[in-house]
Amino acid sequence: MPFDICVLGLGYIGLPTASIFATKGKRVLGVDVVPAVVDTINHGKIHIEEPDLDVLVRAAVQSGNLRAAGTPQPAGAFIIAVPTPFNTAGDGRKTPDLSYVEAAARSLAPVVAAGNLVILESTSPVGTTERVRDWLADELRRAGSPLDATRDLLFAHCPERILPGQMLRELVSNDRIAGGLTPPAAERARQLYATFCTAEIFATDARTAELAKLTENAFRDVNIAFANELSLVCERTGVDVWELIALANRHPRVKILQPGPGVGGHCIAVDPWFIVDAAPEQARLIRTAREVNDAKPHHVIAQVLEAAGKITGGAGNATGGAGKKVTVAALGLAFKANVDDLRESPAVEIVNELAKHTAAGGEKPLQLLAVEPHIRALPAKLAAGGVELAALENALARADIVLLLVDHAAFRAVQPAALAGKTLIDTRGFWHR
Ligand SMILES: NC(=O)c1ccc[n+]([C@@H]2O[C@H](COP(=O)([O-])OP(=O)(O)OC[C@H]3O[C@@H](n4cnc5c(N)ncnc54)[C@H](O)[C@@H]3O)[C@@H](O)[C@H]2O)c1
Repeated sequence: MPFDICVLGLGYIGLPTASIFATKGKRVLGVDVVPAVVDTINHGKIHIEEPDLDVLVRAAVQSGNLRAAGTPQPAGAFIIAVPTPFNTAGDGRKTPDLSYVEAAARSLAPVVAAGNLVILESTSPVGTTERVRDWLADELRRAGSPLDATRDLLFAHCPERILPGQMLRELVSNDRIAGGLTPPAAERARQLYATFCTAEIFATDARTAELAKLTENAFRDVNIAFANELSLVCERTGVDVWELIALANRHPRVKILQPGPGVGGHCIAVDPWFIVDAAPEQARLIRTAREVNDAKPHHVIAQVLEAAGKITGGAGNATGGAGKKVTVAALGLAFKANVDDLRESPAVEIVNELAKHTAAGGEKPLQLLAVEPHIRALPAKLAAGGVELAALENALARADIVLLLVDHAAFRAVQPAALAGKTLIDTRGFWHR
């Protein structure tokens, strides 16, 4: 008997989605190309960190409704939740990498049947749902299948808005968009998500749904860029940015976000580029916001090098003085508070660049200690660069410079006495707030 749903990609989005459908009585096959992921899930365990996801996956697997496999099998509906990163061309231009979506779409050809619904959940450039249909149509043609993708299958884009750290709650309670290549496809997708979504599900066309998701993240990016730009203006003018924003936000129609060391993650730092790529002449503000946010880590790096230079007596860099290494405790590597997700994280970029920094004489003047309570091992590039993963207390005791990069709740416990005599660079206003 075919499964009710086959979910392709069992990461941060696909795994909770597959599991919640399974706990609502749907028979779900989860598919991932990484055998270790398939194995872990079939044992009722998880390979990513997200509050309560372990309980949900265990319940889904134990109920017999969720199983994982390496290839798709027949199902009534297919949900594609694979990565959509970008490629950087030689000239710096960022273009969407749809290779994972294409591979997933093509992999459906041996198992689809007339009447099936194919949903693209991956955040995608405008027109990708049409391309999913075309890739699948191409694969069906090559296989000599009598199926015609346009006539026999339904396609929709249903983007995901859940926030890491609150995924299970938001999966159920966020409003959703179901954008069909045809109105019946949108309606079928709407009905499917209504299995577990208690909020409103708005039916529209696929292109609007695609651009809606990109727009949401570009809006966030532009607003964060405003705060980040303000932080630079404040530094130049000798104004405390945290106080400034708190005061400006007392205006009844002003709501400025908080600055930080940059913008990371798989979404906000990526998705606006899909708009810029599609409409480069028009998306000028969106591009500039990306550039402002991407420049912020370099500013933080310069701040640390200047502080290190002051400690060793060098002039504006960490090269001078008695040859003593300056120890920097970098608090947090994740792209945001209270998650283990390091993708596109500005904190990782900052620590990596600082660890690579060499002084004029060729020596490395900085010793980098990274404190990240949500991971067990450093990313390979940081480990190779000599960064040490340290416990919070140990790092604070050894540090000359304490660099707060992520406002993890675990760092709330830091007592002022532990910071006495150290140079503090608080990129989040954590201790200020
Ligand atoms: N993580 C988030 O918070 C978030 C939020 C909203 C939207 N999204 C979007 O959702 C999509 C998925 O993101 P994610 O965070 O879950 O990614 P992820 O990297 O955590 O998971 C993707 C999974 O897909 C698997 N995969 C790759 N190719 C495959 C294929 N052909 N068949 C089956 N599996 C395959 C990978 O092995 C991986 O396990 C992306 O487009 C992302 O932009 C993510």
